[in-house]
Amino acid sequence: MAMNVTGKTAIVTGAGSGINLCFAIKLLDKGCNVVFADLALRPEAEAVVSKYPLTSSGAKAVFQQTDVTDWAQLDRMFAVAFEHFGGADIVCPGAGVYEPVCLLFIPRYPVLQSEQHS
Ligand SMILES: NC(=O)c1ccc[n+]([C@@H]2O[C@H](COP(=O)([O-])OP(=O)(O)OC[C@H]3O[C@@H](n4cnc5c(N)ncnc54)[C@H](O)[C@@H]3O)[C@@H](O)[C@H]2O)c1
Repeated sequence: MAMNVTGKTAIVTGAGSGINLCFAIKLLDKGCNVVFADLALRPEAEAVVSKYPLTSSGAKAVFQQTDVTDWAQLDRMFAVAFEHFGGADIVCPGAGVYEPVCLLFIPRYPVLQSEQHS
């Protein structure tokens, strides 16, 4: 069953661009507040955050500059969710801190293939 996110709050790390921005937009569209936690926002993400101001009566967005490799900044990210929204119901740890060196996150894929053909 689909989860109703209306009136909930999500923290989305890496929401400053790409796939996490798309997820954040979906959440906002469904009435969910979103904390954008990223090193920076790309222009398209800035536009989304300004479309859902804290003064809005519906879903709200706020940007908190966050490096997810830094504990103090992660603490601050949660504190911002508490300050503005009273907490967080959803946490999406999407920041692109790990980039796979090969397709499909399967490091042994080429090795397995060569083993099968030897
Ligand atoms: N795009 C896809 O189809 C897809 C599919 C599967 C997995 N992924 C994974 O999802 C993640 C995001 O992919 P994307 O294509 O949206 O990439 P992207 O580069 O568009 O977005 C990554 C975001 O993470 C942020 N980021 C990087 N380091 C950070 C840090 N230390 N603290 C906070 N934010 C940080 C960047 O500023 C950026 O906004 C990647 O790890 C990628 O491997 C993407």
